[in-house]
Amino acid sequence: ARAPRPHNTTQGARPPPSITGRGPIALHTGGPEVSIGTIVAFVSLQQGLFRPAVSLLSTGVQIQTSLALFQRIFEYLDLPVDITEREDPVHLDRIKGEVRFENVTFGYDGKGGPVLDGIDITVPAGSSLAVVGSTGAGKSTLGHLVPRLYDVTGGRVTLDGVDVRDLDFDTLARAVGVVSQETYLFHASVADNLRFAKPDATDEELYAAAEAAQIHDHIAALPDGYDTVVGERGHRFSGGEKQRLAIARTILRDPPVLVLDEATSALDTRTEAAVQKAIDALSANRTTLTIAHRLSTVRGADQIVVLDAGRAVERGTHRELVERDGRYAALVRRDAQLEPTR
Ligand SMILES: Nc1ncnc2c1ncn2[C@@H]1O[C@H](COP(=O)(O)OP(=O)(O)OP(=O)(O)O)[C@@H](O)[C@H]1O
Ligand SMILES: [Mg+2]
Repeated sequence: ARAPRPHNTTQGARPPPSITGRGPIALHTGGPEVSIGTIVAFVSLQQGLFRPAVSLLSTGVQIQTSLALFQRIFEYLDLPVDITEREDPVHLDRIKGEVRFENVTFGYDGKGGPVLDGIDITVPAGSSLAVVGSTGAGKSTLGHLVPRLYDVTGGRVTLDGVDVRDLDFDTLARAVGVVSQETYLFHASVADNLRFAKPDATDEELYAAAEAAQIHDHIAALPDGYDTVVGERGHRFSGGEKQRLAIARTILRDPPVLVLDEATSALDTRTEAAVQKAIDALSANRTTLTIAHRLSTVRGADQIVVLDAGRAVERGTHRELVERDGRYAALVRRDAQLEPTR
């Protein structure tokens, strides 16, 4: 049974919607109640997570409200729910977007050695960092620490000089956008899927974002256009199309910091070119941390860090690192060999 709420005396006031009858879910233990706005922001913050949306969509439950959606995500996905907002968190109105990793160490619970070990990286506001390294080196993990999908074990990650653990969720959600290989599309219209990132977006804003993301023409050519329903029983988008929809969403959200986990799987040349163009539009004027698998991304980055078994073993620009002829140069050579002749 729900405890009476002494301050809520408004006639006819209804409790927030709940799909399980358990009442509003508590995100923070002992903290204030979470507003739907925070939830929407938090969910969109966590756009690209660890499991495909299939587990969500295959439940056959149509998402009614963002709260329900939120609850489902937390019920079905393997998310750390121990990420909480500090009691008296810091709110930033204006976010410049400088990201720093200060002596960061991280290990997944109960697992052996650290996944990240003594990472020190400064990404000045508006600049780009490309993170490269072999599989399992810790690249995605590093990216996940910025929006607090996980918290550091040692050291700290800061945004504009403030430890991300000290920021309120609203600031964090406005600050960081994540685009990863795994994109959520909900069983809803294309327009709704995009508006999820910005509920009050006008049609024109939707079109402009989709246009920049190189997906507008594709959507417009569908029989129902932006009203096309997406998903298992609706229209199926390809991997590259989904990625561009995710990019359109992030363009709508317009975060100053972007974490981009590039797809490892090969896209065909035309799709790759379209995705690259979309990513270029998205990255402009933002702090960008790219987990890079495409040589083009790496080459143009202001700063490249090579991760090896959780340690930053090399850093510099493309030119500096090629000249150094170490790990990065070896990766570039290997990539050149793998690159299909076009
Ligand atoms: N949720 C998790 N729980 C436990 N261990 C994990 C989890 N995610 C990743 N790991 C482990 O942490 C290490 C780093 O993983 P991470 O995903 O960061 O590597 P990566 O550099 O992104 O690799 P890839 O290039 O294959 O994407 C790996 O050993 C991986 O097995
Ligand atoms: Mg990865």
